Amino acid sequence: MRHMLNPLDFSVEEIDRLLSLASDIEHNLPKYAHVCDGKKLATLFYEPSTRTRLSFESAMLSLGGSVLGFSSANSSSAAKGESVSDTIRTISCYADIAAMRHPKEGSALVASQMSSIPVINAGDGGHQHPTQTLTDLMTIRSLAGRLGNMTIGLCGDLKFGRTVHSLINAMVRYPDIRFVLIAPDELRVPSYIREDVLKANHIRFKEVNNLDDAMPELDILYMTRVQRERFFNEEDYIRLKDCYILDKKKMKLAKENMYVLHPLPRVNEISTEVDSDPRAAYFKQVQYGVYVRMALIMTLLEVEKPC
Ligand code: NCD
Repeated sequence: MRHMLNPLDFSVEEIDRLLSLASDIEHNLPKYAHVCDGKKLATLFYEPSTRTRLSFESAMLSLGGSVLGFSSANSSSAAKGESVSDTIRTISCYADIAAMRHPKEGSALVASQMSSIPVINAGDGGHQHPTQTLTDLMTIRSLAGRLGNMTIGLCGDLKFGRTVHSLINAMVRYPDIRFVLIAPDELRVPSYIREDVLKANHIRFKEVNNLDDAMPELDILYMTRVQRERFFNEEDYIRLKDCYILDKKKMKLAKENMYVLHPLPRVNEISTEVDSDPRAAYFKQVQYGVYVRMALIMTLLEVEKPC
């Protein structure tokens, strides 16, 4: 039995197969309508979510399966003090696969160790968010036509942004990748990403404060929200929250074929005037998120691809 806790749980070849399956799903949706008939997905969400939870549910429903779950810690027995381990042992009796989001780093790993069904990490604190990364990879591959040989700018809260950590982890495995890490000093990537992921893999990267200067060299710009819920005090959040705002003026500095991605939700970091720019890819990204989750559910449940 396999879980998806970190993007590195899948080899580059396996991710490649998964993205190809997702792309086949995109183009032949009706063919997949019954491949998970009779299967159940449990969504265990201890933290707020719109896209991740609903795209998992939409994915399972589109495969013919059904869904059950909870959308806040308060509405589950966590509010009575139940451990994640006991909850997952219980859920293993009700469902065939589980997607879990939790504010504590490592919680999906703990759950997977006690689970008799595949566990998908749908975000563990400020640590990892592998299914957002699959979504990002599918978006980049579909729009830019490749995954290697590019300069990726990551901008905003690179310290607490789990989508950033997972994306860097996954992208360092492709050839000729260069990163421009755009953040205020307080929100730079954690040192384990800088040392154990970037430097250890001999990846070219630079850390800068200024978005305007970075714009012309980017093939992908990955914007992120400042993660208010992970700050220790509100004053710091207020000081940093609007440190980068992508607007039309900044987009003029970018390449004609640069794409803007954002895991969403957006707060102020992308002005709505950018939404109509053909390079704005963040709502397409939401759609790709459903196809990759369909492909992931099929893969973890070992469901055969229909002919
Ligand atoms: C992200 C998350 O939860 O980490 N959202 C998402 O799943 N698409 C990004 C965020 O909350 O800023």
